[in-house]
Amino acid sequence: MAALLNLLRKPDWYRTTVFYEVPVRSFFDSNGDGIGDLPGVTSKLDYLKELGVGALWLLPIYPSPWRDEGYDISNHYAVHPLLGTLEDFDRLVARAHDRGIRVIGDLVTNHVSMDHPWFQQARASRASPYRPWFLWSDTGKEFSRARVIFKDFEKSNWTWDETAGQFYFHRFYETQPDLNYDHPEVRAEMLKVVRFWLGRGLDGFRCDAVPYLIKREGTNCQSLPEVHRFFQEVRAVMDAEFPGTALVAEANQTIAETVQYFGASNEFQMVMHFPLMPNLYLALAEGSPQRIRHVLQSTLPVPRECAWAYFLRNHDELTLEQVSEDERARFRGFYGRDPRAIVNGSIRRRLAALLGGDDPSILMMTAVILGLPGSAFLYYGDEIGMGDRLVLPDRDGVRTPMQWEDGPTAGFSTAPPERLVRPIVTDPGFAPAARSVAVEEAQPGSLLRRMRSLLRVYNENTAVLSSYRFLPVDLGESPVLAFWRPGPGEQILCLYNFATGPASGTLTLPEAVDPTPIEVLAGEPSCEALGSEVRFHLGRREFSWSRFPAQIVSLGSVAPSAGAGR
Ligand code: NOJ
Ligand code: CA
Repeated sequence: MAALLNLLRKPDWYRTTVFYEVPVRSFFDSNGDGIGDLPGVTSKLDYLKELGVGALWLLPIYPSPWRDEGYDISNHYAVHPLLGTLEDFDRLVARAHDRGIRVIGDLVTNHVSMDHPWFQQARASRASPYRPWFLWSDTGKEFSRARVIFKDFEKSNWTWDETAGQFYFHRFYETQPDLNYDHPEVRAEMLKVVRFWLGRGLDGFRCDAVPYLIKREGTNCQSLPEVHRFFQEVRAVMDAEFPGTALVAEANQTIAETVQYFGASNEFQMVMHFPLMPNLYLALAEGSPQRIRHVLQSTLPVPRECAWAYFLRNHDELTLEQVSEDERARFRGFYGRDPRAIVNGSIRRRLAALLGGDDPSILMMTAVILGLPGSAFLYYGDEIGMGDRLVLPDRDGVRTPMQWEDGPTAGFSTAPPERLVRPIVTDPGFAPAARSVAVEEAQPGSLLRRMRSLLRVYNENTAVLSSYRFLPVDLGESPVLAFWRPGPGEQILCLYNFATGPASGTLTLPEAVDPTPIEVLAGEPSCEALGSEVRFHLGRREFSWSRFPAQIVSLGSVAPSAGAGR
C-alpha cells in the first residue's frame, strides 16, 4: 500500500528510475510450453525488485504473427494468447505496483501487421473504409527520399500487393504496412489504443519508430512537424486523463532532431539518447571519454520535467546511424570483427559479448548511464553478463531465453530444450553454467551482485541525481570522465576511468567542498578534496561516486577486483 501511494505521489518518477526491458517471450515460461509469458514475468517481480528496477518496459505483448517480434500487431486490444490473457496483464501490473514497480508498454503507431483486419479489409477493396488508413501508389515511386531502414532485408519502402492492385508503403518489413496519419480516423484510433492500455493501469509507453509517421514528398519523411503535433496530442490526453503517466520516444535521429521530441515540455517526457550510445562504446575502446563530453555538451540541459533515457543495449542491433562513416568503420574494427555480427550496417551483439565478458567494463558503462541526469534503461540479462547467439537470424541472437540457472533450459522453461522459443546461449563463458542468476547469486563479487549494489546506491541517492544543475567537469585530455551533480544540500562527484590502466590527476570543482570522502561500497578512497581541488586515483576500469554533503559521506568506488557488492 505504501509503495502504491508512493507511486501516485511522484509525477516525475521517470526522471530517476531504472527501467528494465522485458521481452516477455524470452523472460520466463510459466506453463512449460517453451514460450515466456506474462505470468512468468509476474513470478519474477521479486528478482527485479531486489535488483533495484523501478519500471518495466514490456516489449509488444499483443496478438501478432511475430514476424518482427510483435512489432507487427494484428490486434491492439488484446494479449497474444501464448503470452497470457488481459487478466494476466492486469495481475502483472497490480503485483508490480504493489512492489512500487511501474510498467510501461510498447506503443507501435507507425505500422501494423499485414494480417491485421484493417489491412486485410483495406487491400480487399478500394471502397473499404480502411483503404485510406494505409498509403497506396500505382507506381511505387513516391517518397523516394525516405531511406530504407532494414536495408539488408528490403529493397524499397513500396511493395506491390496483388490483391489491392496497388503498391503499399512500409518503412520496415514488407509485412508491416505503414498507417496513414493524415487520415483523422487513424489518429483517433491510436488515441483509443492509448486510453485502453492506460485505463488498464499502464504507467506509460515506449513509443516505437516515432519519426516516421508522416510522409511528405521531397523530404526524408522523418521528424516532420505533424509528427510532433500528433504526439503532443497523445501527451495532452495522457496529462488530462491519466496524470503521472509518461511517454518515451524511440527516435534514432541526429542530435538536432532528437532534442525536438521533448517539445516545450509538452511532448515526450523522455527521449532515448541514440546520439550518445555508440559514443560510449567508442570512448571505451579509444581509452578517452572526450567524445562523451562533446555529445553531452550539445544535449544537456533538457526542458524541465523531461529526462534523457540512456541505454547501452536493447533488443535491436546496436545502431551506428548517428555516428560518421569513419566512426562506423572504427566501431566495426573494435566491436564487429566477426562479419556475422553486422546487420543493416550495425552490430547485433549483446553488451557482455561486445565488452569481451569483462565485468569491470560492463559495470563501469552501466554506472556511466546511471550517473548522468536522466534515467537508465537496462536490457534483460545484461545484469548477469548474458551473451548472444550469432547463428540465429536478424536480431534473434540478442533475444535468447533469460538464464535463471545452470541446465539445458537455463531454468527458463520446463519444456525440452528443442521446444524453447529460441535456443540457449552455448558459448563457453556465456552459457548458463557461467552466466545465470543462480550461479551468480552464489558467487561473492559476481556481476549480478555488484550490479545490485550499484543500483542500490543509485536508488538511495536519487534526490541528488535528479538534480539538473548538472555540470560536466572538463578534464581536458584526461582518460577520466567526471560529472559533478549538485543536488539540494549535497553533491555527487562521479568519476570513471576509461584508460586501459590506472589514472591519477587533479580536478577543480565549481565550488569548494568538504575534504576526504569516505568510501562505502568497497576499496580505498579514490579521491580526496581540498577546497575545490580534488585529487583522484582510479585503477583500470574503476569508477567512483562520492557524495560531498555538509557531513562527509561517500558512496564509494567500485574497483574491479575489490569484490564489492556483498
Ligand atoms: C523499432 C523496434 O525496436 C524494432 O525492434 C522494430 O523492428 C522496429 N521499430 C519496427 O517496429
Ligand atoms: Ca508459456
